Amino acid sequence: MKLFVDTGSVRDVEALAAIGILDGVTTNPSLLAKESGDYRQILKQICQIVKGPVSGEVVATDTAGMVREGRDLAGIDPYIVVKVPFTKDGVKACKTLSSEGTRVNVTLIFSATQAWLAAKAGASYVSPFVGRLDDIGATGMTVVREIVDIFDNSEYTTEVLVASVRSPIHVIEAARMGADVVTVPPAVIEQCFKHPLTDIGLERFLKDWEKAQGAKV
Ligand code: G3P
Repeated sequence: MKLFVDTGSVRDVEALAAIGILDGVTTNPSLLAKESGDYRQILKQICQIVKGPVSGEVVATDTAGMVREGRDLAGIDPYIVVKVPFTKDGVKACKTLSSEGTRVNVTLIFSATQAWLAAKAGASYVSPFVGRLDDIGATGMTVVREIVDIFDNSEYTTEVLVASVRSPIHVIEAARMGADVVTVPPAVIEQCFKHPLTDIGLERFLKDWEKAQGAKV
């Protein structure tokens, strides 16, 4: 399963890319709104760092506007994937952009039928929002399982990109279900690294080593 980071922060992307575990980046208007500077410059910088798929989202809501913005975003860098919302206009824009060879990530997916329709329109990625489904008392990962099953039984090459991730448990479940990609906020990636027993274990190894060195002199 590929790991993308869900952020608009160049600094976060740099830090994770330096570890060598990052396959791509997803941004959205809310994430980029938190950053200072021109969003096109930010996306360009991110593409240069990660050298993998970087999703930039349109803000138009009509097909013509989405296609216009999508073409503009795609012109920033070859690594850009154009993110469009799952609406009828968005699906139509996905069809146009993907027919032109632009990779499209259809976002705000909350059901398996939405994912299937986006795949039919040539989406390269569909982004089911698991955390937001959990927030309303549904089970986000159930939708992911349905989408993975549907795509496994079909000819679509669309990748399942699990989004709106809130915890390492979402990451584990996504991997076990066979999702292609998980996009994870930096704070949750940090949680994936952490285990108190690792810290305690390392501290004990180093103390024992130090003690033994002292005993030898
Ligand atoms: O980038 C889209 C998605 O990951 C948003 O997550 O936490 O705002 O529901 P969240």
